[in-house]
Amino acid sequence: MQSNHQTGTAPGKLILCGEHAVVYGQKAIAFAVDLTTKATIRPRTGPTNVRRVEDSLVQEAAQMVLGPNWEVSLTSTIPIGRGMGSSAALAVALVKARHRDLTFDSLFQSALPVEKLFHGNPSGLDVAVSARGGVLLFQRPCQLQSLACPSWQVVVLDTQQQSSTAQMVRYVDSQRPRVDSIIDQIGDLVEEAAKTIGDPITLGEILNDNQRLLAKMGVSNHHLDELVRLARHCGAYGAKLSGAGGGGVVLALIEDPEPLLVQCNRRQVPAWVCRPWS
Ligand code: PMV
Repeated sequence: MQSNHQTGTAPGKLILCGEHAVVYGQKAIAFAVDLTTKATIRPRTGPTNVRRVEDSLVQEAAQMVLGPNWEVSLTSTIPIGRGMGSSAALAVALVKARHRDLTFDSLFQSALPVEKLFHGNPSGLDVAVSARGGVLLFQRPCQLQSLACPSWQVVVLDTQQQSSTAQMVRYVDSQRPRVDSIIDQIGDLVEEAAKTIGDPITLGEILNDNQRLLAKMGVSNHHLDELVRLARHCGAYGAKLSGAGGGGVVLALIEDPEPLLVQCNRRQVPAWVCRPWS
């Protein structure tokens, strides 16, 4: 018997460095992680419907990608609203479910309008990483360089605070021209990071500098700052917020994750080890 369903799966991501500055044309580095969204679609008669999802934006996203006459089921292991690319993964998974064997360009171009629905003015970084996988050096509108997958690991620490990427991006925009030189400095750090990506000690220093600049920009907060301090206290080479800030997650580049995981457990901070995923 022939099955009448189609599926698409896409990964989440972490931004290593360059968030926000990438919106203004600077480069950024991000990598896919081993957390995914899977969309399963089946033909139906009537408007497209995402099962058991109240969120009107998710319903709109499915309608936008699929048109009418589809029943959609979603399963995801990507935390929502934490800067780990859940909306980009949703967009890419829906497009992959509907269309087989798309080129990267078509996949990117089809998924980006959905990301715009969620985030207003996205750089495209999240969609590019979810569509391509691996570790990417990205520049708007869609210039990509795949970087060799490094052997280091990161610990992800979750503030458990959701934040709105659209709001944070608008906030940064409202801070211009005050933040223009910060944006340029972040761009310079990303260029350095791309050259030293295999060297966790140097890369860690770059991440710390990036965090200082993000704090100066105004997108960190005391939860994020505290988790960054904790990670560094537990031996991280470097730690920073990852994503739009105002909540979400911190990533810590660390040789031995155990002491940090123990401290997080004591403080009931969700934390886990992640590796770049190709
Ligand atoms: O969706 P998030 O929280 O990972 O943020 C994306 C990173 C930003 O640079 C803040 C926005 C963008 O579109 O690149």
